[in-house]
Amino acid sequence: ASTLKDAASPLYFGAALGVGHLTNASDPTFAKLAKQQFSAATPENEMKWGVVNPEAGVYEFADADTIVAFTKKNNMKLRCHNLVWHSQLSPYVTALPLNKVKAAMLQHIKDVVEHFAGDCYAWDVINEPFNDDGTYRDDVFYQAMGEDYFEIALKQVRAYDSHAKLYINDYNIEGGNAKSDAMLALAKKLYKKGLLDGIGFESHFILNELPGDIAENMERFTKVGLDIAVTELDIRYNLPETATTDSQQATQYASVVNACQSVKRCVGITVWGITDLYSWIPQTFTGQGAALLWDDDYKKKPAYKAVINAFVD
Ligand code: G3I
Repeated sequence: ASTLKDAASPLYFGAALGVGHLTNASDPTFAKLAKQQFSAATPENEMKWGVVNPEAGVYEFADADTIVAFTKKNNMKLRCHNLVWHSQLSPYVTALPLNKVKAAMLQHIKDVVEHFAGDCYAWDVINEPFNDDGTYRDDVFYQAMGEDYFEIALKQVRAYDSHAKLYINDYNIEGGNAKSDAMLALAKKLYKKGLLDGIGFESHFILNELPGDIAENMERFTKVGLDIAVTELDIRYNLPETATTDSQQATQYASVVNACQSVKRCVGITVWGITDLYSWIPQTFTGQGAALLWDDDYKKKPAYKAVINAFVD
């Protein structure tokens, strides 16, 4: 295969796309690679609460719509991201008295899900609800509704889009640990009620620190009846990039592909960006980067070929 998407098929291979890069006329390579190489996309920020719904009753869908149109035109699956998350949340929500949060969440979900209904292959309905020790994150939704907020949110999405697969998405759940145990327990409960279709394993990995039991851990979620997806894959490390880091990273990207391929209901892999140039990593982790498949100059890294070869094997 000569592209990621051909190698991955029948699984999808996706990328997070930022609208600013996708429409940047002085960087046509970004959009070119997006359509050549990928069969799925996730808007990197454009569907988040704080972006689409900055004030109560105010909706700004234009940037997200640009990405949706791009995916339609290029036959890509769209992973819609996300509806209920403590981060990038509009200040009007955190300022509400707790007894008004449920109504605000229901209204937000209705308006956003209706807008994109039919376009989303999947919705990350709830994003990052757990702390690393497996307890619930004490965000405004949990404070207002306790653990009922999962069911309330999921039901509302189902009501306004019967096609989208409903996911909970989180990080540090890729191996067996307290957080993935807690996610599994919650997922079982929600799956039995018909409210959950899949779990997203973000997979923001650190070079040489990938869990050794990714496939086994995926497997216990799929045994429940759920799909699983690798939703935000990148493998970061302390710069500089060297021949050694390149080759270690290639092997570790391949191991993630192999894990997904070995699990029957792993439906696809999404990398969290195309080029290192625009990755979220350097601005979040000082001195780190080089986490993606193309470098700052759009040169393919060894990990690119390793991913293709891992699919072919
Ligand atoms: O749009 C503003 C711009 O107007 C302003 O000038 C600039 C100054 O900093 O900020 C811009 O917003 C930034 C936005 O990305 C768009 O570039 C925010 O500051 C910045 O915080 C935001 O970061 C995003 C981050 O989520 C926020 O939590 C990253 O791009 C995005 O890759 C990242 O994605 C998350 C997933 O949604 C969930 N899982 C973790 C993942 C990585 O953090």
